[in-house]
Amino acid sequence: MSKVTNFKRVTLTDLKARKGKEPIVCLTAYTTSISRLIDDHVDLILVGDSLGMVLYGMDSTLGVTVDMMIAHAKGVKRGSEKACIIVDMPFGSYEESPQMAFRNCSRVMAETRCSGVKLEGGVEMAETISFLVKRGIPVVAHIGLTPQSVHALGGFKSQGKTDEAADLIVEDAIAIAKAGASAVVVEGVMEPLGVRITKEIDIPTLGIGASPQCDGQILVTEDIIGLFADFKPKFVKRYAQMDEMITEAVKGYRQEVSARTFPAPEHCFGFKGDK
Ligand code: KIV
Repeated sequence: MSKVTNFKRVTLTDLKARKGKEPIVCLTAYTTSISRLIDDHVDLILVGDSLGMVLYGMDSTLGVTVDMMIAHAKGVKRGSEKACIIVDMPFGSYEESPQMAFRNCSRVMAETRCSGVKLEGGVEMAETISFLVKRGIPVVAHIGLTPQSVHALGGFKSQGKTDEAADLIVEDAIAIAKAGASAVVVEGVMEPLGVRITKEIDIPTLGIGASPQCDGQILVTEDIIGLFADFKPKFVKRYAQMDEMITEAVKGYRQEVSARTFPAPEHCFGFKGDK
């Protein structure tokens, strides 16, 4: 029997209705524990393929597989009752054809029971987005700095610096909105371009290194709590320094184990003192 809860899960339709009104708050989660902690405080949780870099120490997101995304998304879903859960489609799982995209996206939807999928790309993905949406798969798109194209982009670099480059990204935004995407992540673009895209399309823009004028913001949770120190993009703000807290905790544990002050009597079963 399914679990009865007091919460109605946020839908992508709810979020679309918030365009131009209340900002949409989004964060990533890869595990049940983080999902439980953030669920009450965000509208949307993205199971991002950034997990390849953040959890698995990869140097890009390219090595992430559909199986990895499904395993993590199931855990995130278990920890959440309220937020809209979107799962990233990894590199190579959707680009080849709309049919291939449908096979992999429908598997992700069926096995994780998420609310929709996210895939990277603009004009070139519009046909696939339309194919998926017409077959019942809600899609969040991702344009600008698209991490799965890190090699083609020549690195994790901000996008839309010239008028021509900015116009192409606006074309991407218009194409994916017309194709039926429910929302679009706009990453690493010049701030005025974030504003322009937000005004140009009628679906919510979720900014990450874009503009405060976007309809919502998204960041990687481990970045904002200081748990991913490999590098800190300009657009990340640290709200906590968990890496320092963990190091202090581990140092304390080491010191007490070495001094035999841990475990103390209250941590033992039937403690009888010195023998
Ligand atoms: O993979 C991810 O976490 C993302 C966000 C950074 C938007 O795509």
